Amino acid sequence: MIEKLADIKSKALDELSSLADFNELEAWRVRYLGKKSELTQILRGVASIPPEQRKAVGASANELRATLEDLYRENKDALKERAFQDVETTAKGYKDVSLPGRPIPLGRLHPITQTVNEICSIFVALGFQVVEGPEVEWDYYNFEALNIPPDHPARDMWDTLWIDTGSGQRPMLLRTHTSPMQIRVMEQTQPPVRVVVPGKVYRYEATDATHESMFYQLEGLAVDEYITFADLKGTLYEFAKRLFGEERRVRFRCDYFPFVEPGVEMAIDCFICGGQGCRLCSGTGWIEILGAGMVHPDVLRRVNYDPEVYTGFAFGLGLERIHMLRYGIEDIRLFYSNDLRFLRQF
Ligand code: FA5
Repeated sequence: MIEKLADIKSKALDELSSLADFNELEAWRVRYLGKKSELTQILRGVASIPPEQRKAVGASANELRATLEDLYRENKDALKERAFQDVETTAKGYKDVSLPGRPIPLGRLHPITQTVNEICSIFVALGFQVVEGPEVEWDYYNFEALNIPPDHPARDMWDTLWIDTGSGQRPMLLRTHTSPMQIRVMEQTQPPVRVVVPGKVYRYEATDATHESMFYQLEGLAVDEYITFADLKGTLYEFAKRLFGEERRVRFRCDYFPFVEPGVEMAIDCFICGGQGCRLCSGTGWIEILGAGMVHPDVLRRVNYDPEVYTGFAFGLGLERIHMLRYGIEDIRLFYSNDLRFLRQF
């Protein structure tokens, strides 16, 4: 039986090399893979073969069927391509230049890249510079320099992906927020400082409709003489108006971040229910979009800025959630699942 299979295979391959068109290929398929083909008959009869040969015959027959099916598909594709080229070429061997062109698929920017660009241009118009920083970060910049020492309970707020640097080495991690760039920028610049920092951040957490383990934040930092909480409110209020429209109302409430004092969260009134309370805003009428506050004097001292002379504000917003709010997207995971049907909408 094994010899018979080898025989079928060599005949099938021989014939395949001389096929000229679709009809011949189809006849070949019927001959070697059709219901009445020898191979199908052998496969059907496997159960009645003596047990000591059954396994070997079954395996070889199945393998041959898979090989022939693959060859059929490959040849069909090749014939299709050849047919297409023939259509383009006239009988005299000239290209028919009057045929319509093949459409070239156009790429586009990812929706979050579009949001980054849009938000950055709002802050550029308000006098901020755009800078970027490393995603692999020292513990010092991500935590310690931001008033979060090793045993500080605030570290629980940022579940961290650590990098194995070996014992005795300085601890490294994937940054859990863009705030370390506050320190890096201030270390390298003297006031006045006005920067925004877009970029990816990473958190070790279970994903759900509003949480990803990799997402984008945009950090803002302004430090100068006489900067007050009113500047923070005015800047963020203007930003919200430009991004979400004139009619949006903004709410500030106390919040805690170790590197600002005082700290706040900012929310906008829900644009689905207009503040009445609905499923999107969990019945509160407000949607939180960012954390912010006045830069803590200890943070300023750490970068050798005199807190008696300089003050500043900082803020950090999650960009996927902003995009979700603007377009009514219900699941953050859609951004990174590479589904073109979703991505092409933006
Ligand atoms: C921070 O990360 C602070 N660094 C923000 C800050 C900067 C405060 C400067 C004060 C001064 P928080 O962990 O709340 O804060 O994250 C900020 C925003 O990131 C949230 O409002 C939310 O929009 C977004 N965010 C947080 N976790 C996730 C997540 N897992 N998936 C998607 N977005 C998230």
